[in-house]
Amino acid sequence: MLVNLRDICAIAEQNNMAIGSFNVPSFEAARATLDAAEETGYPVILSHAEVHDPVAPLDKIGPMLVALAERSSALVCVHLDHCENLSYMRKCLDMGFTGAMYDGSFLPYEENVANSQRAADMCMNYDCGLECEIGSMGSREGGERDEGGTAEEAGAVYTDPELAAKFIDETGLDILACSFGTVHGIYKGEPHLNFDVLTGIRDLRHIPLVMHGGSGVSDEDYHKAIDAGIRKINYYTYGAKFAGENVLKMIAEKRANNADALVYWHDMTTAAYERYLEVTIETMKVFANGAKPVA
Ligand code: 13P
Repeated sequence: MLVNLRDICAIAEQNNMAIGSFNVPSFEAARATLDAAEETGYPVILSHAEVHDPVAPLDKIGPMLVALAERSSALVCVHLDHCENLSYMRKCLDMGFTGAMYDGSFLPYEENVANSQRAADMCMNYDCGLECEIGSMGSREGGERDEGGTAEEAGAVYTDPELAAKFIDETGLDILACSFGTVHGIYKGEPHLNFDVLTGIRDLRHIPLVMHGGSGVSDEDYHKAIDAGIRKINYYTYGAKFAGENVLKMIAEKRANNADALVYWHDMTTAAYERYLEVTIETMKVFANGAKPVA
């Protein structure tokens, strides 16, 4: 069942849990993510990042995600991730996306506010919740600085709670992405998260907060972040990495005794699907933070 980003985050708020927001730039990723939600009974967000358009063009993947969500027995939000062009957001809204993120975190404050307000006006005319970002993670999703490392190495600017409160009031956003020590991509060391950023914002404005760069964080830190107000966790890199590794393992096993053994495309997509399903089920259970299945 297709649900609005606002409603799915309200469920997370009621249950002191986070909803996994998984980037799904392929049919297998979307299928595995939906199957994980249906199997666990937890709501889910299927995310399409604007930067993934070259590997998953919106005009093909967008209608597919919306149709799959509508038919699913799970509660599913179809969400646009890290949108920088409002014309792209408009296309997603016309297709029936129920969540969208406008990311102006790389812009000067006033410009970020002005564009976020435009995004809010657009979303208001559709059944779509809006996420915006203040502070910067430095590394950009799928971008040239997506190699990971620490937040400092990526050039992160941690979110300032006072400025965040002003931003929330001025933009009309529904949920807020904030920078507090996570990075997109692969971590090269232990991430050091600053939970005071989250409690500082939530003390001023009690709205759902979003963790980007969510893969590679310890279970303990996920739970601390959820207890401090994180209601949506964006997760992609590690799941995609584990799925890719399973494809290599399958090929190595097939060729262990016969170097010429055929490997078909569907062998690869199946190996990727199977591992991605396992990882997503495990991840959703961690993000549930002890909450019972919702569906
Ligand atoms: P990871 O790169 O940590 O999986 O984060 C994905 C993300 O934040 C997408 O917006």
